[in-house]
Amino acid sequence: LADAAFCAALPKAELHLHIEGTLTPAQKLALARRNRHAMASMTLEQIEQTHHFGGSGSPEVDLKQMLDCYYGGIELLSTRSDFFDTALAYLDQCHREGVRYAEISFDPQAHTSRGVPMADVVVGLYEALQYGRATWGVQAQLILCINRDRSVDSALATLDEAAPYRECGWIVGLGLDSNEAGNPPSKFVEVYRRAREQGYRLTAHCDVDQVDSVKHIWQCIELLGVERIDHGINCLEDPDLIEQLRQRGTCLTACPTWRLRDPQPRRVERIRAMLQHGLRVTINSDDPGLLASGTLGRMLPRVAAHGRFTRAEMAQFCRNAFQGAWIDGPTQAAY
Ligand code: ADE
Ligand code: ZN
Repeated sequence: LADAAFCAALPKAELHLHIEGTLTPAQKLALARRNRHAMASMTLEQIEQTHHFGGSGSPEVDLKQMLDCYYGGIELLSTRSDFFDTALAYLDQCHREGVRYAEISFDPQAHTSRGVPMADVVVGLYEALQYGRATWGVQAQLILCINRDRSVDSALATLDEAAPYRECGWIVGLGLDSNEAGNPPSKFVEVYRRAREQGYRLTAHCDVDQVDSVKHIWQCIELLGVERIDHGINCLEDPDLIEQLRQRGTCLTACPTWRLRDPQPRRVERIRAMLQHGLRVTINSDDPGLLASGTLGRMLPRVAAHGRFTRAEMAQFCRNAFQGAWIDGPTQAAY
C-alpha cells in the first residue's frame, strides 16, 4: 500500500486547480485588509464559517453553495499584486509538496466584469509563474476558464480580450466552469470553435452528479472537441462512453475533495473504477482554500489510505497527470 512517505516522494502534477479557489480564510482576511474591503471587518472565525457549505442532499444545490462561497471571495482579488501573490503562494506550496507541474485555471470574467483589467489578471498570474519556475523549478501554465452561466457573447468578448496573451503563449488552454445546471456544453460550440482556431488546448467541467452529466460529457467530446474533462466521474454510467474516452485517451481530472462536514475523501470508489477501466484519470485538489481536503500533497495520503490504493495505483494517477499535461516537445522528456 502507498503510505504518506510514498505519496510525498511521488513527483506530482496538478491539472485541475482554480487559483481563486486557493484562497484560505487567512489569505482572504489579509487581502481584505490590504484592499480595504468590507470583509476586513470580519474575524477569521467568521470567514471560516462561510466555508461551511454543502451537505444539502442535492448535488446541484451543493455545487451552487460552493460557488457562492467561491465567487463571494473572488472580489478580494483586484490588483496585479493580488494575482501575483496568490499564484506565488500556490506555487510555493507546490514546491513544498513535490508538485512539479501545475495547470492553473482562472476566471477572467469574474474579474473583468468588476472592472479589473484583463492585463492585471494575466500579467499578475504569469509573472508569478515565471518567478516560481526560476525560484523553485516548478513549471506551470494558465487555463482561461469561461463561466458557463454567463452569455456566449461575454465568452467571445473574453476570448478577444485574451487573444494577445494566447498569441504569445502565456495562456495554454480553455476551460468551462461555474454553474452547470441549465448551461450545457452545447451552448459553447462557437466559443470552442474559435478557441481551437486560436490554438487553445481544450477542457471543460462536467461536475459530479449534475443533471445530464453523461449527456454533457458526450457533448464535450463530440461538439466541443475537448482533450480533457474536468471531473467527468459520471462517465461510469455509460459503457459506450467509457470505451470512447479510453480510445481517445481523454484525461479526466477527478477531485476526491471533501468539505468541512465530510469526514472522508469522496468519490474514491468511483475514481478507482475509472482507473480499473483503463481511463486516464488523475487526482486534483480543485479548490484547496475552500475545501477541507486542502492541497494535493495533503489530500493524496488520505485518499490512498481511505481507498487502500497500492503504490502502483497512486503512481498511475500521477503518470496519467503528466501524460494528460499540455506540455509539448522536449520539456515532456524531463518527466
Ligand atoms: N469553480 C471552481 N470550482 C468549480 C467546480 N468544482 N465546478 C465548477 N466551477 C468551479
Ligand atoms: Zn473545478
